[in-house]
Amino acid sequence: EKGGYDHFMLKEIFEQPQTIFDSLRGRLDAKNGTLTMGGMREYADVLSNAKRIIIVACGTSWHAGLVAEYMIEELCRIPVEVEYASEFRYRNPVVGEGDVIIAVSQSGETADTLVAIESAKEKGAIILGVCNVVGSSIARLSHAGAYTHAGPEIGVASTKAFTAQLAVLCLVGLKLAADKGTITPQRFQHLLDELDQIPEKVAVALKLDDQVKQIADKYKDARDFLYLGRGYNFPVALEGALKLKEISYIHAEGYPAAEMKHGPIALVDDQLPVVIVATKDSYYEKVVSNIQEIKARKGKVIAVVTEGDQTIPPMADDVIFVPAADEMVAPIISVIPLQLLAYHIGVLKGLDVDKPRNLAKSVTVE
Ligand code: M6R
Repeated sequence: EKGGYDHFMLKEIFEQPQTIFDSLRGRLDAKNGTLTMGGMREYADVLSNAKRIIIVACGTSWHAGLVAEYMIEELCRIPVEVEYASEFRYRNPVVGEGDVIIAVSQSGETADTLVAIESAKEKGAIILGVCNVVGSSIARLSHAGAYTHAGPEIGVASTKAFTAQLAVLCLVGLKLAADKGTITPQRFQHLLDELDQIPEKVAVALKLDDQVKQIADKYKDARDFLYLGRGYNFPVALEGALKLKEISYIHAEGYPAAEMKHGPIALVDDQLPVVIVATKDSYYEKVVSNIQEIKARKGKVIAVVTEGDQTIPPMADDVIFVPAADEMVAPIISVIPLQLLAYHIGVLKGLDVDKPRNLAKSVTVE
């Protein structure tokens, strides 16, 4: 059942070229320049006329929501907020007609997310569910939806569900933008092409497995890790840190790289591994300065960079090259080595990576 892999987590990491493809299939037609989102059709007008969008989710799904915030604001010029479902629900939020809630959940059964959308629905909001489990509670409660097609995810640490969420949320953003007329035909076609190429590029990134394993061996005894990224890669840093915490029980924090100087830089010394997601995008130059700040304090820099990068490698202690992609879809690729890093550190420490202590696959209590 693990298909020849030692753990479900590794199997699921390696399934990603296929699961992303499955999540795009039947929707994206890059050749003909079309995008069909069947589950959004009935509510197309309401959705594209939303006066704001609130994304509610927990854990890894919340990280996918953060990426979607950047995507949707850029593509659709609709204000987007991303909320932890548990916080959103309990603070008596201002929400009602004209608001669209996007609920992101692999299981579709997470109690915090479910309760949050129930109350928003009562107040007149329209709910768009992005779930992986067909017929799940959140999917059933939603007015409209776009399923991820990642297949069953067994490993407690979410991997393939996350990349499927990113792909589907990008499709949702593109659909809304096309309906609203906020995207040029050229940019629309370009992003369809970029998405179309993602499964292949993820397959290339998976070839880094052996290299990442060596890096894991080098840093597995560290007490703390810092993960940094900016823009679209900021949530990737959060996700990398969460994976490491869950699987290896090493304390890790994710931060937007520019926030370093407002506090966390005090933690940097020659014992601290700092994973920096620094692919070529509009934030690149800024991230290079952030790397210099860390090196000046003797931190160990593990950099995820774009193939062909010649600036960062001489500055970093370890370099991981990933295929180039438009910054909007780049997180789908840059998260792959971070999933592998957490996996290998967990395994090298002799831990049960598929069932980490204290965690349940779906959290059905509030
Ligand atoms: O099923 P959901 O996507 O609603 O689950 C949300 C979180 O419980 C989940 O992402 C959790 O954080 C994972 N263990 C992360 O790997």
